[in-house]
Order: sequence, then structure tokens, then C-alpha cells
Amino acid sequence: MIALLILFLAASSATKEIEETLDAADYIAYYGYPVERHYVTTDDGYTSEVQRIPSGRDERLIEGCSKKRPIVFFMHGLFASSYLYLFNLPSQSPAFVFADAGFDVWLGNVRGTEYGMNHTKFDAKDPSFWNFTLYDYSHYDLRQQIEYALEETGQESLFYVGHSQGTTVMFARLAEADATWQNKIRLFFALGPTAGFLKPLMPFTLLEKGLLQKLIQYVLDGRFGIQPVQIPKTLLSHLADFCSSPFLSHLCSAGFHIASGLEKLGQVNASRLPIILSHFPSATSTLNMLHWMQIFKYHELRRLDLGAERNMIAYGQEEAPKLDIGNIVAQTILYFSKDDRITDEVDVREIIMKQMGPGLIENYDLDHFTHSDFAIGLRATDEVYKPIIYRIYKEIQKNGC
Ligand SMILES: *[C@@H]1O[C@H](CO)[C@@H](O)[C@H](O)[C@H]1NC(C)=O
Ligand SMILES: *[C@@H]1O[C@H](CO)[C@@H](O)[C@H](O)[C@H]1NC(C)=O
Ligand SMILES: *[C@@H]1O[C@H](CO)[C@@H](O)[C@H](O)[C@H]1NC(C)=O
Repeated sequence: MIALLILFLAASSATKEIEETLDAADYIAYYGYPVERHYVTTDDGYTSEVQRIPSGRDERLIEGCSKKRPIVFFMHGLFASSYLYLFNLPSQSPAFVFADAGFDVWLGNVRGTEYGMNHTKFDAKDPSFWNFTLYDYSHYDLRQQIEYALEETGQESLFYVGHSQGTTVMFARLAEADATWQNKIRLFFALGPTAGFLKPLMPFTLLEKGLLQKLIQYVLDGRFGIQPVQIPKTLLSHLADFCSSPFLSHLCSAGFHIASGLEKLGQVNASRLPIILSHFPSATSTLNMLHWMQIFKYHELRRLDLGAERNMIAYGQEEAPKLDIGNIVAQTILYFSKDDRITDEVDVREIIMKQMGPGLIENYDLDHFTHSDFAIGLRATDEVYKPIIYRIYKEIQKNGC
């Protein structure tokens, strides 16, 4: 992380690249692609911008699809936004590569990112705005953005690509969805997937279950000064202030670890770092970080554990309900790596591959991919995105567009 910061400071003293100042949709247009902004408001009142690249630059169509462009829907991970799929050059970044391959590309965003800061009742300064976890990302943002894309295009199903938490929210969604909903997902490509952890990952595993429970109560009651977890992008002094209390410092370092501290730079193009760092990291909620900590404790996906009494009120049972990935029938394909130190290979094999049923159809164990490489690594274009495109072409050839 220090290395990143130094690079960042070095970069920020030089003149800004134009890409650093553009939001996702303007950046897409800057590279000459058609782009649309869509606003999806969830049943619980959050509005997020979803970007769409309806076709590639040469307007190619897929053989066997006549005029239809099948949808590929991307969802980003923790501390990221849809920009994750745009950071490299158009010939390398998945959003552009898929558009040029004949797909209708949709880029989802969850609440709390810079594309999800609006609520029908709450202001983003209001603590109640930040009263959500990854379950809400899954149940509201992800579900409704997918339903919106299908409705808007008149299509019945789509292909889904998620990275990291972007896989977790889909695992959670499919675990609680009936077969009709699951049919909306034609193939689920899970990059750096996670649905629980066996191996401890500091600092997520620092807090004891009981203490974690207490903190969650505090946050829910608004007694904790419920706040966004946000790593200020430019001002280190703000960072120091924010992280100065002992508890927040754990969250802060969690953020840094997830962001990059745990990992070497892998295959990331260092010349793109100023652009990457001007759009990353995004914010999440304290409560979501606590939910992640619980996922580490339980080694499986569950709704947020509120403690027996509140669980009874919220869920009608004393234990937080399990989100059972054994229920998944949507066809799922995993991409993971021994060199990914966040979504560890052991966890993928011991949790996802053992708990999933017939939904799991293929898995690929890649060499030398760090966690972020799946989304922004330079080898990902040839070793992940193009194979996914060919896999989808094969599916279309076999079962129609
Ligand atoms: C979100 O809120 C901001 C500030 O209140 C406003 O400028 C913007 O238009 C809103 N966006 C949407 C999509 O409602
Ligand atoms: C957060 O949501 C829970 C359950 O929906 C509610 O009981 C609690 O009062 C909310 N807290 C805040 C600070 O909005
Ligand atoms: C890395 O990014 C720079 C700046 O955008 C670009 O000129 C260069 O071609 C990229 N390198 C590779 C190997 O893609």
C-alpha cells in the first residue's frame, strides 16, 4: 500500500490524465463507445446509476443472434465500482472487450459507491443511509438491476460476471431465489469467488463473536455514529483522522488489505495507477464490514446475525438464516488461483465446491493471478475474458441466442 501511495503522490504532482477526471459513462464515451446511464431505484429507496454499453465500436453481431445482443452484466467487488471493468485500455478492459465481441454490456453498481449515493428519504450524510450490508446489495441492488436490464431489453436471461464480493452477492441471491429467478442467469462466471472462509484473514478475524455482536447492536441502534467506510482518495490527513479511533483503525486496515495491501501489484499496469486510484476505492458501510467479519466466523454465507432476540424479530428464528449455496441450480463457472490471497484456493475448494450442487459446472484454477488481477490484470484479457466470451459463444451455438 505504501508503494501505491508513493506512486499516487508522484502521479498527482504531475498533470492529470483526462481519464482521471471522467466518471464511468463519460470515460466510456471518451473511448468512442456508445453509452447510456440508467437509474435503478430499489424497493428500499436507493437509486444507483447503471452504465450500459449497448454495442461495440464496430457494432459487431454474434453469429446466430440476428439483431439481438445478449446481455453480459458485470458486478464489482468490495470498495470498487463499475469502473473496475474499465481501468485498462479498451482492447484489455472487460467492459469494452465484451462490447466489441457483440454483447450488450451492463455495469452494475451497489449503494454507497459514487454511483449509488441517492435515496428517496435519506441523505448520504444521514446515518440511516448507511444501514445496509452485502445482503442488501444482493437482495435489492443486484436483483433489481438485473430485472431492470432484462425488462429494458425484453430479454429473458443474461450472462453474469462478478468479481469477489460481486460473486458473493450473486451466490447469496441465487441461494434464496426460486428456479424461475435463477433461470434469469444463463451462466454465472465467478472470478475470485467467495462464499465463506476457512482460513483466517487479518484483520477480519480479529474480533471475537461476542464483541462483533455487540458492535452490530450499537451500529443498528445508531449509537456508534454509523458511518460509511471510506478511504479518502487524496488527503492522508483525513485518513489519519478517520482511522484514529482504535476500532475504526481495524476497519481502515481491513480496507487497505482488501484494496491492495495484502498483495503484490501482480499484473497491474503501473502507468494506469493514477487513473485507477482516482476512481478507487469506493465507500461501503461499517455494517457491511461487520457482516463480512461474521462471514469469516461462520465459514458460510448467512444473513447478518443480529443476536438471538433481534434475529427472532427480523427472521422469525434465533439463528441468522443460512444462504445455502447448495440451492443453486444456475450454471456456475469458477475462476480462482493459488496466488489469490484474499479469496484463497482452499476456501474455494472446501466451501464453494463442496457446498454447491448441480449448479457448479466448471472451474478453472489459474496460475499467478492475484485477487485484483482477475479484474484489472493484463493477462486477464487472454486468460479470463476471451475464454469467457468463447464459452458464451459455445453456449449460444448449442442452445440458441
Ligand atoms: C442524486 O442526488 C444528487 C444530489 O442531491 C443530484 O444532483 C442527482 O441528480 C441525483 N441523481 C439521481 C440519479 O437521482
Ligand atoms: C437499521 O435497520 C434496522 C432494521 O431494518 C433498524 O431496526 C434500525 O433502527 C436501523 N438503524 C438506523 C440507525 O437507521
Ligand atoms: C499501460 O498503460 C499505458 C498508459 O495508458 C499504455 O500506454 C500502455 O500501453 C499500457 N501497457 C500495456 C502493457 O498494456
